[in-house]
Amino acid sequence: MRETMLEPVLTPDGWALLNSLPPYREQDSLARATALRRAGHSPELVSAVMTQSRLRARAQEKFGEFAGRMLFTQAGLEQATRLPVAALHARRFQQAQVTSVADLGCGIGGDAMALAGLGLTVRAVDRDPATVAVATVNLRPFPSASVHLGRAEGHDPTDTEAVWLDPARRAPQRGRDRRLHDPEEYQPPLSAVLDLARRLGRGTQDGPLGAKLGPGIDRMALPDDAEVQWLSFHGQVLEATLWTGPLARPGVRSSALVIGRDGARQMDLGSEEAGNPGDPVPGPVGDHLYEPDGAVIRAGLIGTLAQQLQARTLDPSIAHLTGDRLVHTPFAAGYTVRDVLPFGMKRLASYLREHRIGVLEIKKRGTAVEPEQLRRSLRPRRFGEEQATLILTRIAGEQSVIITSPHPRPSSPAAPEPAA
Ligand SMILES: C[S@@+](CC[C@H](N)C(=O)[O-])C[C@H]1O[C@@H](n2cnc3c(N)ncnc32)[C@H](O)[C@@H]1O
Repeated sequence: MRETMLEPVLTPDGWALLNSLPPYREQDSLARATALRRAGHSPELVSAVMTQSRLRARAQEKFGEFAGRMLFTQAGLEQATRLPVAALHARRFQQAQVTSVADLGCGIGGDAMALAGLGLTVRAVDRDPATVAVATVNLRPFPSASVHLGRAEGHDPTDTEAVWLDPARRAPQRGRDRRLHDPEEYQPPLSAVLDLARRLGRGTQDGPLGAKLGPGIDRMALPDDAEVQWLSFHGQVLEATLWTGPLARPGVRSSALVIGRDGARQMDLGSEEAGNPGDPVPGPVGDHLYEPDGAVIRAGLIGTLAQQLQARTLDPSIAHLTGDRLVHTPFAAGYTVRDVLPFGMKRLASYLREHRIGVLEIKKRGTAVEPEQLRRSLRPRRFGEEQATLILTRIAGEQSVIITSPHPRPSSPAAPEPAA
């Protein structure tokens, strides 16, 4: 959003008008804007409050009830860390007994709010003036936070005990946002992040720095003595968080933090000497199939999970596990195996007809078959009302279909918060 679009809501009258609006509804927005203009508000102010009202509604998914008192830029909201995740970042600083953090590239302030919410002193810095204006408003309720215009690269390591960075991983190109996969294209680039960790440290030891990186990051590109934590939120891998110096847990090189319906759970992988079980062994399809969470896969924890589940792989190149025990784990989706077929349309259609299976969930890993195309070709509704989950995968190199039913959900109490 251009800076000029923000200015009207930064005035006391503009702020009051924004906060007086009822919850945003797309279908009412035209009529509401017309009514506001008829009431004598300038077109610039009406446009600015309606934009903010729409962004506040969208932001509820990330910020819950806080969204209703915040300001946003479109790009800032898209890049912001959702509050439950930011709270976990902040807790790691708190547990390391850090009392002050510089958030270098603070955006609209998602992470900075969580840090300040835990009572830490926060120096929030961003290079973009409009973003600084927005972060200033969002951090106003937190007296321990201050917001500054500046660049991460110029940070004085004596300003705060620790540093948090969430580099921008997208950049505008020909009017659209392009995702940046090369960490040297991040803003600031990974080399600047690692340089800051060194400048914060003493001698050869890195100082306390946390950084949110893309989930595709290569573990080998990061310091060996750091902890890299892949984080998934309701099944989607959002980030790989780098923790250096005292923020890294001793002996933990890679970990997975899985946030689901029952809270957050953590699984760790130490150095190889510390008992990494290695890759699971391949074997035949058992009574149960497990689809490991993406964070577990990215963190290289398949072997550890297989050990926990007493499971094996179906194919060494595909992250499906199979075993004979039903185990409820937050680290994988579990299914009871009903049948296994080599992949073939005719065979599959006659199986579904015979078993009156007409309600299908179709999942795939390691095959070129497109689930939606398969569904269109099968037209399963004609077969009956029974339900099944089809898992398209490879078994010892052969394209196969595993007919399954999802494990029933355990009625477990909420999971304890992970120890950082
Ligand atoms: C991904 S966003 C941060 C989001 C933030 N953690 C949140 O939760 O709202 C990255 C921010 O870094 C800022 N930025 C990029 N390069 C920078 C640099 N070299 N110095 C300071 N800020 C920078 C961008 O303007 C952008 O606002």
